[in-house]
Amino acid sequence: MKVGLLTGGGDCPGLNAVIRAVARRSFSRGHEVVGVREGWRGLVDGIFEPLGGSEISGLLPRGGTILGTSRTNPYKLDGGVEAVLERFAAEGFDALVAIGGEDTLGVAARLHAEHDFPVVGVPKTIDNDLSGTDYTFGFDTAMTIATEAIDRLHTTAESHNRVMVVEVMGRHTGWIAVMSGIAGGADVILIPEHSITVEEACADLVKRHEGGKDFSIVVVSEGYELTYESGEHRLVATEARSTDQFGHVVLGGVGDALAREIEQRTGFETRVTVLGHIQRGGTPTPRDRVLATRFGVKAAELVDQRHFGRMAALHGDAIVDVALEEATRELKTVPAHWYDVARAFFG
Ligand code: F6P
Repeated sequence: MKVGLLTGGGDCPGLNAVIRAVARRSFSRGHEVVGVREGWRGLVDGIFEPLGGSEISGLLPRGGTILGTSRTNPYKLDGGVEAVLERFAAEGFDALVAIGGEDTLGVAARLHAEHDFPVVGVPKTIDNDLSGTDYTFGFDTAMTIATEAIDRLHTTAESHNRVMVVEVMGRHTGWIAVMSGIAGGADVILIPEHSITVEEACADLVKRHEGGKDFSIVVVSEGYELTYESGEHRLVATEARSTDQFGHVVLGGVGDALAREIEQRTGFETRVTVLGHIQRGGTPTPRDRVLATRFGVKAAELVDQRHFGRMAALHGDAIVDVALEEATRELKTVPAHWYDVARAFFG
């Protein structure tokens, strides 16, 4: 078989580990593997790169993606889908492995449903918001980086008697915020799914300081909407910039807005740290390397068995496969019981 391989959407640690695993297992099954450059753009424009032993050597610990990535959506381009189908046939591909999040895999699911496109998915994203799998690779690394940052902020917060607001990524789900917040011992965590109000957050901080502490750590997810007792709520986004081809606004800035509110309402000196793309850069954690490798091997097996329209997934400790359609139907949000664990330590 001739197997195409693409990485789409925001990069994350572990993409190269999947590329290596898919290629190694495919080679051992006697298949040829070709990289499609820059996500779906590579199939629209026909940008390919054969992958052999030397190309995939040394990839396991390497962050980013050797194939490049983009947020190109063929469904948003004139003739985009036709171009994908034509290039795919013209190159003589038998199958495609798409490594991506809800956007990239949403395109894969649709191509499979509408054109019987022979595609298999691998769930990637630091946001951990894909359904059908307990965890996506990339998340553990982002959570580890955020936890380390919170640990570091603790010591400087304590020295200066300050409130430190840490803004983390996660788009419209609060997985990174909740997990790193619990791990780092945050005193308040604000996430999109369970919006406590600014007044409640400030009350928790005042209670903590009245109880004898003179510093606090607040973790806020970039997608948290500033919510007030009055019922007013406001999503902070970079309004000047347009949406991407999947209709996403560029989030960011809520940490700053929240810090100003906290300082004004409580009088506590407050500083902000926006972790941003640091959460996506660098080498994957061992857990992400292993998960990415297991996903890659599973994806190659699904291709070998011509079991298309499926996505490798983690259920408990087992690697299984689920329908791409199921995985991309709705976002996997943080359940109330997870937020309850975080909340037990507020204030
Ligand atoms: O989906 C991954 C993610 O890092 C989100 O957490 C974040 O909102 C977005 O991508 C940032 O995108 P970009 O790299 O285009 O700035």
